[in-house]
Amino acid sequence: MSPISIRSLQSMKAQQEKFVVLTAYDATFAQLAAEAGVEVLLVGDSLGNVLQGHDSTLPVSVDDMAYHTASVARGNRKAQRPALIMTDLPFMSYGTVEQGLASARAVMQAGAHMIKIEGDDWLIPLVESLSRQGVPVCAHLGLTPQSVNKFGGYRVQGRDDAAANAMVEHCQTLEQAGADMLLLECVPNALAERITAAVSIPVIGIGAGPSTDSQVLVMHDMLGLNTGRAPKFVKNFLTDGRNVQQAFAAYVEEVKDGRFPAEEHSFV
Ligand code: KIV
Repeated sequence: MSPISIRSLQSMKAQQEKFVVLTAYDATFAQLAAEAGVEVLLVGDSLGNVLQGHDSTLPVSVDDMAYHTASVARGNRKAQRPALIMTDLPFMSYGTVEQGLASARAVMQAGAHMIKIEGDDWLIPLVESLSRQGVPVCAHLGLTPQSVNKFGGYRVQGRDDAAANAMVEHCQTLEQAGADMLLLECVPNALAERITAAVSIPVIGIGAGPSTDSQVLVMHDMLGLNTGRAPKFVKNFLTDGRNVQQAFAAYVEEVKDGRFPAEEHSFV
């Protein structure tokens, strides 16, 4: 079977078929997730929390991201239908266009097919440059964890009209600049629905309700491996006597048929 590409995801959006994203940081879980039908493996800088034990993503380096991307790429390659690998550029590794290009080169050469960066319209020059140079980009808006200190905590974003209108506009200008995908984290359902309708590129959601084209979860969260209180948008799929492979398959099935996320996982 041909590997998942950006074109596969675009045609899934066009056909209103949900696609499934899950974080992966190593070869074994990457292969199992791709074999369970996960279409996009996100090498997230959440590895700073779940692998390295930090209390934020800020300490993660480009070398860390490249190392884990290479591991994920080796496992993914063994799956019958390899997933698309999307890798986060970490904190302060894309503050200028030059820095962003160098960081993107490192993770793309390690095996990523796409990069993800957090921010809004300030990302436009970098998105334009990456796009011209053949690097697919996902822009992450809403609750962007690299800005946790600016937000003063992990809070739902885009609740008031001005912030919501600005986010819609930023998403549209990022699409015009060449972004291939958007990711919305912790925004009210109605705003995610508005943005998903306002752009033609696929939109992934986490804590953004059921209307986005796709859902993502951190793997440790969906396996119930929380050391603290799980966020509202998390569902543990490692239940009912399932093993890890069956938990991945249940996640894929519930995203595809619209059972996940339910109302209790969303913000209004
Ligand atoms: O780093 C990550 O895992 C992420 C998800 C929370 C979307 O960006």
